[in-house]
Amino acid sequence: MEAFLEYVPKRDIFDQIPEKTKEQVKKIVDFLKTRSKAELVTISAVGITGLAGYFWVQNKWKYWQRKGIVGPKPTFADLGNTITTFSDLGESLFHNFSDDVIGIYFFGTRPCLIVKDPLVWKDVCIKGFQNFTTVMRGEANYAFGKMAADFMTTAEGRKWKRLRNTIGPFFSGARLKETCLVLQDTYEHYEEKYIPKTEVEAKEFSAGYTLRSILGSGYSLNAKENEQLVEEVYRHSNILFETSFFGIFKLNITSYPNSTDKFFREVIAQIMAGGNDGRINLVSLMAGNIIDDSEELTATKGFTKNEIPQCSHSCFFHFRRLLAVQNEIHNIVKNADLSYDGLKKIKLIDACIKETQRLFTFIALLREADHDCEVAGVKIEKGNLVMFLPSGVHKSREFYEEPEKFNPHRFDGNESNTLQDDYWFGFGIGPRSCPATRWAFVAIKLFIANVIKKYEIISGEGTPELADLKMKFVGKQVKTTKPMNIRFKNRI
Ligand code: HEM
Repeated sequence: MEAFLEYVPKRDIFDQIPEKTKEQVKKIVDFLKTRSKAELVTISAVGITGLAGYFWVQNKWKYWQRKGIVGPKPTFADLGNTITTFSDLGESLFHNFSDDVIGIYFFGTRPCLIVKDPLVWKDVCIKGFQNFTTVMRGEANYAFGKMAADFMTTAEGRKWKRLRNTIGPFFSGARLKETCLVLQDTYEHYEEKYIPKTEVEAKEFSAGYTLRSILGSGYSLNAKENEQLVEEVYRHSNILFETSFFGIFKLNITSYPNSTDKFFREVIAQIMAGGNDGRINLVSLMAGNIIDDSEELTATKGFTKNEIPQCSHSCFFHFRRLLAVQNEIHNIVKNADLSYDGLKKIKLIDACIKETQRLFTFIALLREADHDCEVAGVKIEKGNLVMFLPSGVHKSREFYEEPEKFNPHRFDGNESNTLQDDYWFGFGIGPRSCPATRWAFVAIKLFIANVIKKYEIISGEGTPELADLKMKFVGKQVKTTKPMNIRFKNRI
């Protein structure tokens, strides 16, 4: 009641109502006068429900204010603070609020505490894991429709543990040695068929290689042997990622066409039925560990992974202006052995990948509280969210000297990704960090090494400067506001 009264306008407000509004109110009153009793009852019920809903939401949006925590104003159009937070991955929040914690509302009215301190985030993910075992339950998990229920990202408890343990061996050193051979084969096929003679958009170029490398090494679908199927997967992946998820959450419906859903299920069934080259892959590993018939095998989100192209295309985009770095890499790779063991010695590319992810951070990290607990001195209730925006840390002068500069040598001596860095969060942290980190590094390294071995990457026509580029969400994927065109100049 108190919350309601807070919103009931005070008397003098009526004097300030503009004439135009008064006329509109009169029109509504006249309209209501002509309605039947039954119609008036229905209109009143809808009106009262709407008003009650409005006040209920406004009251929910006072949660952080009541706790004395600052934050941006939530609105209905922004689904709380969801769209604006997503649109720049929280960078403006970092600049607009100097406090260590910021309160926002996610997916409508869900309170979400943004923590800025990287050490607090480490505590949440590692020491506090028993309180934060999932990324998020509910709304966001419906972003990919029905299929999402089977992703590892949404799995919990024993099912999650089992999935994680099952795919673990796929990323072991021994397996990666084998993976490297497949990746090299994939690259050679891709180069022969696709290295553009003229200009190309860096992301498109990287995405094509990535999909083929994931399908080849993760799913035993060899692009060389079945290019047509791979192109179909590419087409359906784009459909999956380009459909927006705002507006469909909670409805548990599939935002993409049924044909795409059917296509992916059929491809998985085909792999499970042995329609591959007999090598161990993610699907066969999981097929061997199914304990519940209802479980589908879309379980890792790897099938339609987006992050590798994000990372490699950003690397290429940076390289076009960094001929010195390119030449440095070229000198190392021109006669190098690009096997798994050989790649390990090429540390400069690891550093370039880390530096690219630092400057081009396209992730926000999230955890949901399983129990009431405390984070950074703030009481967090069960079901509320805690979020960390690595882009703020990655671009902070406090942690990085001249953070706006691309300088891979800042990681000299600390190039490898051990997930132990204090101020670098490219693959997350703790038990729910990215299980494919080593695999991703190998795939990107091999790609970059192969390209730079033969080509010099230069700017394309009208290629924007880094400062003119902003990231934006298109559907469910992060893209840049302008195309990142690059060209390949043959070194030979
Ligand atoms: C450059 C490439 C990649 C980047 C930057 C990346 C980044 C991330 C990040 C930031 C997280 C969340 C970590 C956290 O919340 O602490 C994550 C989780 C995850 N990633 Fe990756 N990833 C990449 C490639 C891949 C690939 C290729 C696969 C699959 C084969 C994959 C599978 C997963 C899975 C299954 C999870 C959820 C893990 C869990 O909930 O236990 N990632 N990744």
